[in-house]
Amino acid sequence: MNNYFDYAASSPVASEVLDVMQPWLHYGFANPSASHLEALKASKAIQLARETIADKIGAMASEIIFTSGASESNNMALKGTAFKFLEKKGHIITSSIEHKCIINTCLFLQTLGFEVTFLAPDNNGLIKTESIVNAIRENTILISIHHVNNEIGSVQNIKEIGRVAFERNIPFHTDAAQSFCKLDIDVDDLNIDMLSLSGHKIFGPKGVGALYVRNSRNVGLVPLIHGGGQELGLRGGTSPTPLIIGLGAAVEYFPQSKSIQHIEFEEVINRYDFIRNGNTSAVVPTIWNITFSSDEEVLRFVNDHAWLISQGSACNAMSNTPSHVLTAIGLDEATARRTYRISLPPYHITGELS
Ligand SMILES: Cc1ncc(COP(=O)(O)O)c(C=O)c1O
Repeated sequence: MNNYFDYAASSPVASEVLDVMQPWLHYGFANPSASHLEALKASKAIQLARETIADKIGAMASEIIFTSGASESNNMALKGTAFKFLEKKGHIITSSIEHKCIINTCLFLQTLGFEVTFLAPDNNGLIKTESIVNAIRENTILISIHHVNNEIGSVQNIKEIGRVAFERNIPFHTDAAQSFCKLDIDVDDLNIDMLSLSGHKIFGPKGVGALYVRNSRNVGLVPLIHGGGQELGLRGGTSPTPLIIGLGAAVEYFPQSKSIQHIEFEEVINRYDFIRNGNTSAVVPTIWNITFSSDEEVLRFVNDHAWLISQGSACNAMSNTPSHVLTAIGLDEATARRTYRISLPPYHITGELS
């Protein structure tokens, strides 16, 4: 599909990934928690995938908890931390431009008595480290700031945020659904305590993701899904062998360079009159959030190209309202309606954006 430009919403399963997954859908179906030979084969393959994912972010295999995707990982990080403080409660710092699964989890935690600070970004979609420092309270139990914004592609300075959190002994979680495999991540270098990732953003399958939890054996996160002790007791349920193996394969086969679609895109887009939002700050080259100069310019673009693109994120498309991210960076409703997100096939971006 060379008119598909919505990779930030989802990507197809790469053919190499599909090939690796297929035998596990039909032949390798044994429950990996059982004790016979077939089960052992499955659990070994799962362990290999766990090691691949851990290696990618400089973690240990025992620190990777498989989930159904980044939404669940984010829920696990936030609720799992908050539920440790159900009696005393506490304060959480996040931003107003997180993915809805973070925002709505925080709103839910507020109904339980937790306090949440939603920090506003600047006009380029960046959260100032200074605003985090100023928001910290004595009872702050968690700082959660995403790495790459899914709507405008801005890259948060998570190294500085991690340092601030580390110096004050506050756990730091980052939603890396849009950066995992795309930017270099080393959880020690960046002082990350928890990190969420997702399979379908990196040419892996839907329905699988992971939460990295620093030293997860001792962290004391409260599980959200109680079950048979899988995933160190943090996430019950029979492990989905093909999905997990697909996630590991997606990491291995992740593209290391741009495709022809990127080059064609840049040639085409420059024929139109627009402003690229977040452009004066660090943005990933695969997400272009653009505001066309006029309604006529939007029409000209739409008539010329039957591209599959999105206005805001996939989640906001359903409500037909300007997204919370565009509003937060200061776009009024009319401007937001002339604004589109074009997202190109992801690849490993080396260098200064990491
Ligand atoms: C930044 C961010 N966080 C979380 C998610 C949710 O990921 P998943 O679909 O794996 O639950 C997405 C997907 O749109 C995302 O872009």
